Amino acid sequence: MKQNAVVPFLKWPGGKRWFVSNHASILPKAYNRYIEPFLGGGAVFFHLQPENALLGDANADLISAYQALKTNWRFVKRSLEYHHRMHCTKHYYHVRDASPQNLLQQASRMIYLNRTCFNGIYRVNTNGQFNVPIGTKTAVIMPSDDFEALSKLLQNSEIRHTDFEILIDEANENDLIFVDPPYTVRHNLNGFIKYNEKLFSWEDQERLSTALIRAKNRGAKIVSTNANHFSVRQLYEGHGFTLKTVSRFSSISATPDNRKQFEELVILSNPNN
Ligand SMILES: C[S@@+](CC[C@H](N)C(=O)[O-])C[C@H]1O[C@@H](n2cnc3c(N)ncnc32)[C@H](O)[C@@H]1O
Repeated sequence: MKQNAVVPFLKWPGGKRWFVSNHASILPKAYNRYIEPFLGGGAVFFHLQPENALLGDANADLISAYQALKTNWRFVKRSLEYHHRMHCTKHYYHVRDASPQNLLQQASRMIYLNRTCFNGIYRVNTNGQFNVPIGTKTAVIMPSDDFEALSKLLQNSEIRHTDFEILIDEANENDLIFVDPPYTVRHNLNGFIKYNEKLFSWEDQERLSTALIRAKNRGAKIVSTNANHFSVRQLYEGHGFTLKTVSRFSSISATPDNRKQFEELVILSNPNN
């Protein structure tokens, strides 16, 4: 049974809060295990609140934050309250330059930096050190925070730092896989899309589509978002998927002229779910 709304605790680029707000009816109601291999801020996971989940992401700092909240949310909360009191430019850069070895400290550092850095961006230098400058937001503790509820929800989840293909290959019949890979870095006015090769290459996109075709053939339910671009569509056409175009905004905010640039693709294994 679904509990009260749980708000994602991270601001994450490409986050799917808009999808949950405008298109939640696309998501299947019944399934066995919930699998989300590109977890990020987990907007869809927190919306669905599945009873049994397998979650993963290639970002180690991000996964540490989830694992720490699962094991000791009280510590993470206390530590964030400390950062909230201490927050200033000097404190931000001091924390940014630190490399805590303990999982709980790593988690509170990650959440603190996510909430106070410039635009909630996650970027590391060639040594893997987070290097985003301080932003304008100063609240480390938010009124919407409910770390206890987050932790309770995560008790039924297995959380792994791993590549997406491993998790997709574990999906069985009637498992639901929600797939939200990094896709575009830019939609310009010609509809041209530039893939960020370093984050997620075209080979990764191809590897993803073949893993999803295998999972579909095993009977898994799939909902995947992606760039609404012909090259992405081509990967899924002819394999029995339904391709739907959805807007990132409610219909009121888009005019016919700008509608296209706010459109994304949803790839469904079954249109009726
Ligand atoms: C668009 S974000 C997901 C956003 C998420 N749906 C939300 O609501 O916040 C994509 C995520 O994929 C992760 N990622 C990138 N490459 C990956 C890979 N090869 N395997 C697993 N995760 C990967 C990134 O770290 C990032 O968190």
